[in-house]
Amino acid sequence: MKYRKLGRTNFEVSEIGYGAWGIGGKQWLGGQDDESLAALRRAIELGVNLIDSALAYGDGHSEKLVGQVVREQRGRRIYVATKVPPKNLIWPAQRGTPIGEVFPYDYIMRCAEESLRNLGLPAIDLLQLHVWTPEFLKADDWRRAFDELKRSGKVRAVGVSLNDHDPDSGLGVIDTELIDSVQVIYNIFDQTPERNLFPLCQKQNIGVLARVPLDEGALTGNVREDTTFPPGDFREFYFRGGRKKQVVEHVNALRKDLGDGVNLPETALRFCLSHPAVSTVIPGMRTQRHAEANAALSDQGPLPQETLAVLKRHAWDRNFYS
Ligand SMILES: NC(=O)c1ccc[n+]([C@@H]2O[C@H](COP(=O)([O-])OP(=O)(O)OC[C@H]3O[C@@H](n4cnc5c(N)ncnc54)[C@H](OP(=O)(O)O)[C@@H]3O)[C@@H](O)[C@H]2O)c1
Repeated sequence: MKYRKLGRTNFEVSEIGYGAWGIGGKQWLGGQDDESLAALRRAIELGVNLIDSALAYGDGHSEKLVGQVVREQRGRRIYVATKVPPKNLIWPAQRGTPIGEVFPYDYIMRCAEESLRNLGLPAIDLLQLHVWTPEFLKADDWRRAFDELKRSGKVRAVGVSLNDHDPDSGLGVIDTELIDSVQVIYNIFDQTPERNLFPLCQKQNIGVLARVPLDEGALTGNVREDTTFPPGDFREFYFRGGRKKQVVEHVNALRKDLGDGVNLPETALRFCLSHPAVSTVIPGMRTQRHAEANAALSDQGPLPQETLAVLKRHAWDRNFYS
């Protein structure tokens, strides 16, 4: 496993991080806690040292599992990132909503305390706001809360998780120099952060967590037209209607261009790591098998330029979250 510096923090984070949404058990169904715990432990054994969770993932369940495994580690530095959900529980942030309805000061402080209790840890390494809109720049609450949490030692670094497919919404907050990292959708289908966000992150030395690297499973190649998800699973919504057919068409075109025998999940994750602005890529992986496959590929390094040139042609402008 290789490690990269997370922006200007002193965190040396693993290129492959652990996306802990799926193990929350509420939005992604079909997982088992025992298996999730085993996958987390295996990932750590293989060098993963950054875990991305959120208070909203299974209403704290993901944080509890993460905390359990992190507390077992003796002498191994594991970086735990988590997030403050919007108070109005509206994802993504809506322009025009007063910040008092989304991230008031007292609320941020309460959420941080709740996350600390769930994790059972003395401090949160990286606390992120779970939604963001540039309108929040005018408000003082989040700045005060971040400042106070950092000064108290309960939080070591702070960041924002940007709205789906809207990387440019993060440009203003980076310029404030008040945050240490951004979390952004970056994958073969959505390459837009390369345009403005990544160059600015590199210039200002801001860490980047590349989220949803497998497009919620589409880029694993395992979503077929007849794939079904458990009723109530988030992916039932994400891949609804004719979307699975569209995914199959795009994935088939990708396979055709990359040649037979291509390992799609591996290519998708190495694609993210090929950009130097990315500090860590955080696939969801609820099984040991996936943890092993993903942890292994950091050693393979970036993709060759010819492959990256092919992948450029497969950007796909759409928003399945809406
Ligand atoms: N707004 C936000 O801030 C936000 C939103 C979404 C996600 N996130 C973060 O980003 C993380 C990653 O996104 P995600 O989990 O939604 O989706 P993702 O990483 O794009 O895809 C996860 C899917 O890929 C499968 N997978 C992983 N490795 C694989 C491999 N080697 N071969 C085949 N399949 C593989 C997983 O299977 P199994 O899990 O079943 O093993 C799971 O079904 C989240 O966990 C969360 O931490 C943040």
